[in-house]
Amino acid sequence: MGFESIMAIYIVLLGPPGAGKGTQAKIISEKMFLPHISSGEIFRENLSKKTELGNLARKYINRGELVPDDITTGMIKKRLSRDDCRNGALLDGFPRTVSQANSFDEFLAIDHKKVNVVPYIKVSDEILIERLTGRWTCPVCGHVYHEKFNPPQKPGICDFDGSDLYQRDDDKLETVQNRIRVYINQTQPLIDYYRNKGVLVEINGENNIQMVTEELLTAIQERIA
Ligand code: AP5
Repeated sequence: MGFESIMAIYIVLLGPPGAGKGTQAKIISEKMFLPHISSGEIFRENLSKKTELGNLARKYINRGELVPDDITTGMIKKRLSRDDCRNGALLDGFPRTVSQANSFDEFLAIDHKKVNVVPYIKVSDEILIERLTGRWTCPVCGHVYHEKFNPPQKPGICDFDGSDLYQRDDDKLETVQNRIRVYINQTQPLIDYYRNKGVLVEINGENNIQMVTEELLTAIQERIA
């Protein structure tokens, strides 16, 4: 086993849609100098560029369903093989099924690597719906706002680059409700999967953004020290 494989750190942020995974991943990846790998963001980039992958994924995303495992796993393995991930990565939105988690473990094991810590951000359903239907995102830098909980300085405009903010197509109420159902059926089993591996740590995602960041950083540092 080489030095590189001993040092690599893989963090998987687990939680329902709207738990704050993307918000926290942006902050933590910068603090820990780890690339933020968001399966949802990679899909959305491909949707907007109308690539073959984007066209394949569109119908699933617009219905709030999961994109098939083979497509998603192939896409993430390709992204993780890039040079910036040699010291690990912070994953947001992947894995999302037990089959994806098994494939990911097998992929890491080839280089004697493993998932080190899985913070599970817990938030109740009523809060999730309010968060997702009030979310606004910057199309250029990806910064995420909320009209009530985390508003930009000028409504509709990104604080960082002045771009017009947009609302995601899959944040309509019916699609959000389906995404929560899909999460319960297909992603919740990962809680036990990672608990049984001894890497799961529960985080209270109902606190404000700064408090969640502090709890996450403490939990991650304790487990990778
Ligand atoms: P994806 O983009 O991954 O969506 P998601 O998991 O549903 O998560 P979200 O991005 O909606 O929420 P989040 O937890 O990141 O919350 P955020 O920080 O934005 O996936 C989209 C789709 O792609 C899927 O439905 C599927 O079709 C497909 N896909 C992706 N990965 C896949 C996979 N592995 N397999 C198959 N298909 C896949 O926060 C939400 C809002 O709350 C924001 O407005 C924010 O400002 C606010 N907020 C955040 N934290 C707080 C807080 N503590 N207090 C108050 N407000 C807060």
